[in-house]
Amino acid sequence: MRIVVTRRPPGDALDMLRSAGQVWVWKEDTPIPRHVLEEQAPRANALYTMLNDRVDRPLIDTAKRLVVISNMAVGVDNIDLVVCHERGIPVGHTPDVLTETTADTAFGLMLAAARRFRGGLEYVRRGKWDEWEPRLLLGHDVYGSTLGLIGFGRVGRAVARRATGFRMSVLYAARHRQALAEADLGAHYVTLPELLRESDHVIVAVPLTEETRGMIDAAALRAMKHTATLVNIARGPIVDSEALIVALRTGEIAAAGIDVIDPEPPPPDHTLLHLENCFVIPHLGSSTERTRAAMAELAAENVIAGLRGEPLPAEVPPPSSGGVGNRRSLAG
Ligand code: NAP
Ligand code: GLV
Ligand code: GLV
Repeated sequence: MRIVVTRRPPGDALDMLRSAGQVWVWKEDTPIPRHVLEEQAPRANALYTMLNDRVDRPLIDTAKRLVVISNMAVGVDNIDLVVCHERGIPVGHTPDVLTETTADTAFGLMLAAARRFRGGLEYVRRGKWDEWEPRLLLGHDVYGSTLGLIGFGRVGRAVARRATGFRMSVLYAARHRQALAEADLGAHYVTLPELLRESDHVIVAVPLTEETRGMIDAAALRAMKHTATLVNIARGPIVDSEALIVALRTGEIAAAGIDVIDPEPPPPDHTLLHLENCFVIPHLGSSTERTRAAMAELAAENVIAGLRGEPLPAEVPPPSSGGVGNRRSLAG
C-alpha cells in the first residue's frame, strides 16, 4: 500500500503510517508543488493532505488506486467531497482534538483586538512609551459584553464556555437551533442580522461552503456596532477582505482579529497586515505542540482504517447530509 504524505507531519504520525504501508513524503518545508502532487496521486492508495493542498476533481480523476483521503485539519473545503462521494472514497479529518486550542486562539484574538494589543506593541517598539497616559489606546471591554458566535459547532461552543467566565451574554447564529447546548451555555439563538446588530464582539466559526463564502460582506460590517470587533478563526473567504479594510479604516467597526485571511497566504503588502486595528496571525488556530501532534496522529489513524476498509475514526459526513465541505470553494 502506497501512502502519499504532502508535508512532514508532527508527532508519531509517520511511524504510524509506516506500519501500514510504504510511505512517500514531500520533505521540503514548503507546500507540495501541484505538479508533484499530480505525479504522486495516480500511484497513491492513500493521500494524507494538508489544508492548503487542493484535492479537486481533476486530481482525484487520475488517482485510480485511491481508497482514502485524510486531511490533517477539521476543515475540508480544500477537498471536492462530491467527487469523493461519487467514487466511494472516504475522507477523514481531525475534529475535536483541535477544538479547545482553536477556541483559545479565538478568545486570544478577541482580547488582542478589543484591547488594542497591536497598537500597544507598536507604540512600545517605536520608543514612544514615555509616561503613563490616562487616555492612551483606549479599547473596548470584553468582560461583561455581548459575544456573537457565527457557528455554534465544536469550536463555537468551546468559545461560549470560555465566555461564561467573562460574564458575557452569548448570541449565536447557525442554520439549526441547538436547544441542549443553548440551555447548557446560556446562549441565545438569533438571526444573523440580529447578531451583527447586538454583539460587541463577533467571532466567525463556520466552515467555508457555498453559503458562507462572503457571508461577512460590506453590508454585514455596516450592520455591526462602531465599537465592535470581528474575529475570523474559520476560513479567509468567509470575510470579504476589501470590505473589512474599508470598515476598519472608516471606523465602521473598531478592530479585527484575524487567524485566516483571503487570500492565504496574503501578499506582504496586503492592507490588512498593516492596519493598526487589525491583529493578524498566520493561521495558528490549532498550533500547539500537543494539538498538532494529536491532529497528525488522528489523520494517520484515518489512513490506516481506510486502507483496511474499516470506518474511519473521524470521517467527514457525505456532502448531501448538510455537513461540511462543498464544491464551489474549489473554484478559486
Ligand atoms: P462544526 O462543529 O461542524 O461547526 C460548524 C458550525 O457552523 C455549526 O454550528 C453549523 O451549524 C454552522 N454552519 C454551517 N454552515 C452554516 C451556514 N451556512 N450558516 C450558518 N451557520 C452554519 O465545525 P468546527 O469544528 O466548529 O469548525 C468550524 C470551522 O472552523 C472548520 O470547518 C474550519 O474551517 C475552521 N477551523 C479553523 C481552525 C484554525 O486553525 N483557524 C481550527 C479549527 C477549525 P448548522 O449546521 O446548524 O448551520
Ligand atoms: C484548521 O484550520 C483546520 O481546519 O483544522
Ligand atoms: C493601573 O495600573 C492602575 O493602578 O490603575
